[in-house]
Amino acid sequence: MAYVFLFILILLVPSAIAGFLAAPYVPTRKREIGRFLKLAEIKKGDIVYDLGCGDGRLLAAAAKQGARAIGYELSFLNYLFCKLFRRSAEIRLRNFFRGDFHDADVIYMFLSQRAHNKMGKILAGRLKPGARVICYAWPIEGWEAAKIDRQINRLGMFLYITPNYETLLFARHCEEGRSDDAAISAKTGLLRFTSFRSQ
Ligand SMILES: C[S@@+](CC[C@H](N)C(=O)[O-])C[C@H]1O[C@@H](n2cnc3c(N)ncnc32)[C@H](O)[C@@H]1O
Repeated sequence: MAYVFLFILILLVPSAIAGFLAAPYVPTRKREIGRFLKLAEIKKGDIVYDLGCGDGRLLAAAAKQGARAIGYELSFLNYLFCKLFRRSAEIRLRNFFRGDFHDADVIYMFLSQRAHNKMGKILAGRLKPGARVICYAWPIEGWEAAKIDRQINRLGMFLYITPNYETLLFARHCEEGRSDDAAISAKTGLLRFTSFRSQ
């Protein structure tokens, strides 16, 4: 009996911790996955992360498009499920707040508002140029979305794109004297993105 109790505890405690840290397990609805694929514009060879991947449904869909799909998950039950049924994805039984995402092309988050903001601070300035971050339901406060997909009776999906080298060069060029609208917009966009971490 004690072993059964211990086994249940081992299964359930990590899920409770994950719920407390960032969000409990609530899967993205299957009909919403198409929205994600479209907004993220996933290409063959892209490296896609799902932070708190749940049952891995999003990763499976990304892998089908030819992406390398990687999920972080703390809940042991979800991890086991993914290991058994999402063979096309790579699953890490780890806390994503301590993850390394320098190689990410796409990062997906469906967490609490607080967790999105916290990840925003962790990711700002650490992603490669052109990397896309997609948040479902809640934005990252302080980041400027490149696109917001809003649909009636559905939660919003927010797309953020790390400035690419051309934007960086343009912003630097602007610092050297340009002050027209395009220059101001490039400078403030870049500033918002890079300064969020220090707030
Ligand atoms: C709202 S669910 C989203 C599941 C999946 N991404 C989807 O959209 O279907 C959040 C998931 O994140 C996991 N989670 C929460 N905090 C975590 C953390 N710090 N590290 C890894 N996984 C975490 C939870 O166990 C849960 O499965």
